[in-house]
Amino acid sequence: MTQTTEFTNRIVLVTGAARGIGAATATQLHQHGAIVVAADHVFASSILTEHAPNWFQVKLDVTSQQGVQQLVDNIERQIGAIEYLANVAGILHMGSMLTVSIEQWQQTFAVNCHGAFYVCQCVADKMKARRRGAIVAVGSNAAATPRVNMGAYCASKAALNAMIKTLGLELARFNIRCNIVAPGSTDTLMQQQLWRDAEGAKHTIAGDLDQFKVGIPLGRIASPNDIANSILFLLSEHARHITMTNLVVDGGATLGH
Ligand SMILES: NC(=O)c1ccc[n+]([C@@H]2O[C@H](COP(=O)([O-])OP(=O)(O)OC[C@H]3O[C@@H](n4cnc5c(N)ncnc54)[C@H](O)[C@@H]3O)[C@@H](O)[C@H]2O)c1
Repeated sequence: MTQTTEFTNRIVLVTGAARGIGAATATQLHQHGAIVVAADHVFASSILTEHAPNWFQVKLDVTSQQGVQQLVDNIERQIGAIEYLANVAGILHMGSMLTVSIEQWQQTFAVNCHGAFYVCQCVADKMKARRRGAIVAVGSNAAATPRVNMGAYCASKAALNAMIKTLGLELARFNIRCNIVAPGSTDTLMQQQLWRDAEGAKHTIAGDLDQFKVGIPLGRIASPNDIANSILFLLSEHARHITMTNLVVDGGATLGH
């Protein structure tokens, strides 16, 4: 059910919106009355189309700077001013630092870091002229806590953190806030692919000292909505005095690091 809120009839761009955390974020924003542009590279058409009232869907590969620029220009021309950005698109390649291929390393950075840079730079430029807007990028608790076999991912998310905080610093004088939501293990395809059997979630919660993982003190895997709740909070006026923050939402898995 749609509610009337501060998001009502305001335009939000969500990347990585086809499933998982991005889909939950786009859905919640829509339920809060926003005009949502859900973008993802798995969507069929690169033509910006209204699939349901106030729900636009479009194919976007965030690794294409040109594609990003075209989409942002099209949204502003066809729908109106983008007031919120949730940059959720991300990928994970598992592999040891000693064996990860150059291609996997570069692809990880292409999506998690460079793609986020293209989208944020493009949208921030429009917001700056209007002196209004809020940006949230989805990072990871692995940005600050090293994880075995996740070197490329950890490094790409650490770079994303530095990029978003610097953007937030530069944009503060233009009344634009930039923050990071850093999930821990969350029940999406990205996480489920790491589970070897039906007990996967249980093992993740219990931890694995051989991998130097202490487990999840709150005793559960996050739902995509748990993460979306924090994204909406940081986009909203409730967070009007918060910028350059990294909000870790991991049930305590990195011990408040
Ligand atoms: N699931 C977790 O445990 C977890 C933990 C920490 C951080 N994260 C982060 O949360 C974000 C969302 O991940 P998720 O768990 O929902 O995973 P997911 O794999 O279910 O969803 C990722 C989405 O991003 C899209 N995407 C990937 N590459 C893209 C590209 N080049 N252009 C546009 N879209 C692209 C995918 O199609 C997919 O819809 C990611 O940034 C991820 O790194 C997830």
